[in-house]
Order: sequence, then C-alpha cells, then structure tokens
Amino acid sequence: MIETSFHPRRSCLYMPASNARALEKAKTLPADTIILDLEDAVAPDAKDDARDAACNALADGAYGKREMVVRVNAMDTPWFADDMKSVSASKASAILVPKVCSAADIVKISEIIDGENASDGLQLWAMIEMPMAVLNIAPIAETASSTRLTTFVMGFNDLAKEMRAEQDRTLFTPAIAQTIMAGRAFGLNILDSVYNDFKDPDGFEQECRQAKAYGFDGKTLIHPAQIDIANREFAPNEDKIIEALAIIAAFKDPANAGKGVITVDGKMTELLHLQQAEQTIALAEVIAAASQ
Ligand code: COA
Ligand code: MG
Repeated sequence: MIETSFHPRRSCLYMPASNARALEKAKTLPADTIILDLEDAVAPDAKDDARDAACNALADGAYGKREMVVRVNAMDTPWFADDMKSVSASKASAILVPKVCSAADIVKISEIIDGENASDGLQLWAMIEMPMAVLNIAPIAETASSTRLTTFVMGFNDLAKEMRAEQDRTLFTPAIAQTIMAGRAFGLNILDSVYNDFKDPDGFEQECRQAKAYGFDGKTLIHPAQIDIANREFAPNEDKIIEALAIIAAFKDPANAGKGVITVDGKMTELLHLQQAEQTIALAEVIAAASQ
C-alpha cells in the first residue's frame, strides 16, 4: 500500500476539465478535493484539449491545499493511453479510473502508472460503478496492499444505467454495503456518489447525513453550491467532539486506570470507543488545519 498523508475528503468536486471558468473558480472554492474530469463530462471532440487544460492547470499550481485528482477515460477508449501518460507526469495527487471491473484491471493500471515513472506518491482511485466491480469488490480492494490503489469512488449514474435501474438510492444499498465492507477491510478511503439535483440543498443534506451514517469519508459533488453542506455534514459536529473529549478524559482519569470498560455520560464505554473518540478528534484537527 502506498504511503499517503491524511487529507480530509468531505467535499470532492468534479468539474469538466474543458470548462476553463470552472478550473479558475476552483482556486477559490472551499472543496477538500477537486476532480478534473476528462471522461463523462467532456465531449469526444474536446478530449485532447481537456487533457491539456487539466495538465496546464495542475502545472499552474494555484490550488493551495486542495487535493487535485484527474478522472481519465476508461481503459477501453482511444484516449486512455494518452490520458495515463499525461496525468502520470502531472502534479495530480491521484488518477481516478472509471469503469474498472476486476482486480486485474487495478494491477494493470497501477503497472501503467509505474511504467510512466510517476512520483511514488501518485495514488490510483477507482470508480465503483459497474455491476462487475460490485461483484468483484473484495478482490479489487485486496489489490491495495500491492498497488497504488487507495480510494473507491461510487458512481450511481453509471451503475443505474448498467443495472437498468431507476435513480433510486435504496436500490444501491447492497452495493454500498459491500463496497464499504471491502474497502474498510483493506484500508481504503470511500467516497459517495453525486447528487444530481444540485438545486435541492435539503435533499442533498439528507443524502450527506445518510452517507456519513453508512461510513463514507465524503461525497463527490457536481456544483459549488454543494460544498459547504458536505463540509459541514462530514465533519465531526460539536456534540460529537464534546462526547469524544469526555471519553478521552474519562479514560485518562486515574480512577479508571487499567479499566477496559467504564461508564461515560450514562453509557457503556469500552476501549474501542476510546479509539473512535481519538479518530474523531484527529479528524477534527486535520479539518481545522486544512481550513487555515
Ligand atoms: N465546478 C466549478 N465551478 C462550477 C461547477 C463545477 N462543477 N459547476 C458550476 N460552476 C460554476 C459556474 O461556472 C458558474 O460560475 P460563474 O458564476 O462564475 O459563471 C457558477 O458555478 C454557477 O453555475 P450554474 O449556472 O449554477 O450552473 P451551470 O448551469 O453553469 O452548470 C452543470 C451546471 C451541472 C453543467 C455544472 O455544474 C457542471 O458541469 N458540473 C460538473 C459536471 C461533472 O463534472 N460531471 C462529471 C461527474 S458526475
Ligand atoms: Mg460515469
């Protein structure tokens, strides 16, 4: 598994790399991660220009602490090889590959990145949006120990199309559960799919809350109006922080020295809850540092 420094990924905003205005705007938007898209959001005739625009924007380097990711075209397209070559040599933090289906795909893509002499830290992110990827999810996740894979990004627009299903999130519950189980089993980050109705902040907020409850690290976004909501919903809230600090303080209390289970605020609290509390505080600290 490749070493990566911890980065909050509450809000991961896609933008078509062909949209110069969006690329410029991204420099001031409070998204944790920017995903420059060369795939679905770019028309076939604009692919080459979009690739150049993405690499030029990355070279420009005016994106501050934002994590910069490029989504390339799928392996079976005529643009894939050029995309991989250019993005491997760019300043991107990760290459997001769509339509992956198997562990062999991940191994092959990771080897392509190695073959392009990319920096050691360049991560591979994989879209989980094909039925075959969901069926193969555990072997795909397992490749993280020996490849550049660090992150799963769910894609329900494509999954719905492939399943011939409606855009109804409840239909994706089994895929979500499987992906989170497999991803966590092998130490991956996991990002939720997009919410297409970007003029519906209430519906988006509800979906963020559900995504957080499922265990997602953050949400992929399609519009700047979604950033603040995602940043708020995926950060530990004040109540969680107060609860976590109380748990940490209780286990530090000499009266509880050596105990594995104690009562905090009327609730059974074990050492595993102490670990969760420490993770909550660590995440809050990273978010606070990133927003300075
Ligand atoms: N990233 C950065 N800026 C964006 C943006 C995005 N994803 N979406 C919109 N903006 C900007 C617009 O450029 C506009 O800027 P301006 O006020 O400086 O002109 C402002 O936000 C308001 O945009 P708005 O008029 O509300 O939306 P739109 O009609 O211009 O665009 C979409 C709507 C859906 C086409 C656009 O949001 C988009 O392209 N989203 C990303 C699509 C994508 O990447 N899909 C792939 C993954 S699913
Ligand atoms: Mg797609």
